This record gives sequence, structure tokens and C-alpha cells, in this order.
Amino acid sequence: MVVYLVGAGPGDPELITLKAINALKKAEVVLYDKLANEEILEYAENAKLVYVGKQAGQHYKTQDEINKLLVKEAKDNNIVVRLKGGDPFVFGRGGEEMLALKKEGIKFELIPGVTSAIGAPTTIGLPVTHRGIATSLTLVTGHEDPTKKEKQVKWDFKADTIVILMGISNLAENIAEIMKYKDPSTPVCVIENGTMENQRIITGTLENITEKNIKPPALVVIGHVVDVFKEINQIDE
Ligand SMILES: C[S@@+](CC[C@H](N)C(=O)[O-])C[C@H]1O[C@@H](n2cnc3c(N)ncnc32)[C@H](O)[C@@H]1O
Repeated sequence: MVVYLVGAGPGDPELITLKAINALKKAEVVLYDKLANEEILEYAENAKLVYVGKQAGQHYKTQDEINKLLVKEAKDNNIVVRLKGGDPFVFGRGGEEMLALKKEGIKFELIPGVTSAIGAPTTIGLPVTHRGIATSLTLVTGHEDPTKKEKQVKWDFKADTIVILMGISNLAENIAEIMKYKDPSTPVCVIENGTMENQRIITGTLENITEKNIKPPALVVIGHVVDVFKEINQIDE
């Protein structure tokens, strides 16, 4: 038995890796989350497909339940794929699943994916680092576990570029915090449904971005790298 922990990429089905496709082709079971594009499940032509993501209005599996199911499927089958959007180790809880497998002595292999945090900006010509403009990058969640006793994210980041995932529902609150440490005129770019046909790009500044109509799934890029995107796309604001 082996479990492949696989990244599906940010949405565009052509951004999955060859290694991921090969794992899906030989899988007996695929446990998958909500994917931006389910077309890639077609590679798993011989597999039982098990959805373990969230479903509106229904009970969804806790991480502990998913870990247990993964271990059970691994014991009952030879080849299991655990498929996640983007990269499993970037806000994907892949690390917890890897540890659960290790604890049970189950063999696993890791197949990275193109994370939306980098792949979505790259696809539109928005570099997350750029010589002379940005030499550092912070990836941060905009939605910390509300059960934590104390918040880990303080928003006082020194990095030149900040990319926020899961950041739309708390955007106004988080941007207000960031403005305590960064100039309100700092450029911002929001990418909705990055790399997908229904992709939307919204630009602004820290000061005005929350006035714009933004819907998840989306990520937020903050920093002067956004000026490079604007130059390439001849956007004057
Ligand atoms: C739970 S995190 C999973 C991230 C994933 N593991 C990755 O590496 O891309 C989900 C968040 O990723 C971002 N995201 C994922 N796919 C996206 C896409 N195609 N366009 C924009 N943001 C996306 C959104 O901020 C969303 O709330």
C-alpha cells in the first residue's frame, strides 16, 4: 500500500504535473477536496472517487475524520491518491495527513502542485519577487483558526510582497491592520478564480481595495510587484 499526497494545481487543468497524472491513472481510490476543476479526475479512470471536501448545508468531514478515512483506504487498497487543490503543503493540511500516515506506518509519496499563491499571479504577469522591487515574500492566511487562544498573525510583516490566501471574508479587517505597517497607497491586486476561464483581476491600493466587489475564491497580492503587472498590461490608475 502507498498513498500519494498530490497537488492538483490552481485550477487550469493543464497546470497539473505529469507525476500527478501518472499517480491518478494507477489509483484504486482517490480522496479529493473541492477542486477548481474536476476535469482532472478523469485521469483516475479505474478509481473509486471519494469527495471529502466541504458541502454547503451538509456535515463535512473534520480533518481527524479525513485522516482516519485515509488510513483505512490505505489499509484496504494498494494505491490511494489524496488530491488537493494547489499544493498540499500550502494551507492544504497535507502535513497533518502525512503525519497521520507515518504514525500508522503507511508508505507515502509526495507530489507537489503549482500553488495558487504563486501560479495565479505568475499566469497574469505578476511576479511575486522582482529585482529592485521585491526581494522577500510572505504567504499568509487571512482566516486563522478562530478556536486559537491567541492570534499568530500580527500583520506587521516586513516582506516586500504579501500574498493572502483565504482572505476575502476578513479583508477589510486585515487590510486595516496592514495599513498600520504599510503605506495606504501600496498597490494591491486581487485575483479571483486564478488560471480559470472565469478569472477576474481587480487592482487598487490598500486604501481603496475593500470598496471593490470581490468574491472568493480569490487571493490578494500586496506590494510594488503589482506595478510590474500594471506596466505589462498597460493599466493606468
Ligand atoms: C485552503 S487554501 C488552499 C490553497 C492551496 N493548497 C494552494 O496551494 O493553492 C484555499 C485558498 O487558496 C486560494 N485559491 C485557491 N485556488 C485559487 C484560485 N484558482 N484563484 C485564486 N485563489 C485561489 C484562495 O485564497 C482560497 O481561499
